[in-house]
Amino acid sequence: MIVVLLGPPGAGKGTQGEKVADRLGIPKIATGDVLRAAVRDGTQQGLAAKGYMDRGDLVPDSVILGIMKDVFSSPTAARGAILDGVVRTVPQAEGLTRMLAELGRKVDTYLVFDVSDDDLVDRLGGRTVCDSCQTPYRGLEPGTRCEKCGGTLVRRKDDEPESIRNRLDVYRKQTAPVIEWAHANGMKVVNIDAVGEIGDITDRAMKALQG
Ligand code: AP5
Repeated sequence: MIVVLLGPPGAGKGTQGEKVADRLGIPKIATGDVLRAAVRDGTQQGLAAKGYMDRGDLVPDSVILGIMKDVFSSPTAARGAILDGVVRTVPQAEGLTRMLAELGRKVDTYLVFDVSDDDLVDRLGGRTVCDSCQTPYRGLEPGTRCEKCGGTLVRRKDDEPESIRNRLDVYRKQTAPVIEWAHANGMKVVNIDAVGEIGDITDRAMKALQG
């Protein structure tokens, strides 16, 4: 099963992607995590992406499609994948669809997370993430140990107020049109209410995928 998670920054794609992937026994692949690891490791890809990411802008489509090509030409996603934040422009959606078709595969569901702007700003302002495994936390200060891997929690550069505003704007202008594109192209698109207890939202996501 290949699932694309769509939703604004802070909607919980990372949090839920991990849980849904665990339940389905397939990997979660997040372009944001791949790019942050590249920035941390100082690779050429990371150096090219850093400026875009710090400002909250999108990195070029060609970079994202290159990452997806690597993923789908390796055994990583042989049984499927939860794609978190992978499709953020219509050209990315078209490119991914084309690439998968060449492999005889397709996206099964576009799962859209609905959260109000006020909730998003609140969530991102209070977020820390593990600098090693990238797990997001709420209500834990930078410097705290990650409960999952023992790494150190840090604030993301793009969780500064100015970057958050830009990311929300970029989402509305460049990513929201992907939802219309998916409807217009006959894809299965399901919206879920992504506000509430984390476990309840995972249940809603699983129901949407199995329905
Ligand atoms: P990325 O890392 O994907 O960032 P994002 O889309 O902005 O999403 P976030 O990680 O901020 O939020 P999330 O929805 O995963 O929420 P989370 O689970 O953390 O991308 C970063 C950058 O990389 C982009 O800006 C761009 O530059 C680049 N990039 C990546 N992919 C790209 C692409 N395809 N094309 C071009 N550029 C790309 O939750 C947020 C917080 O809320 C956490 O603290 C969490 O603990 C908390 N929380 C979660 N659920 C709940 C709940 N139910 N109630 C209360 N709190 C909750």
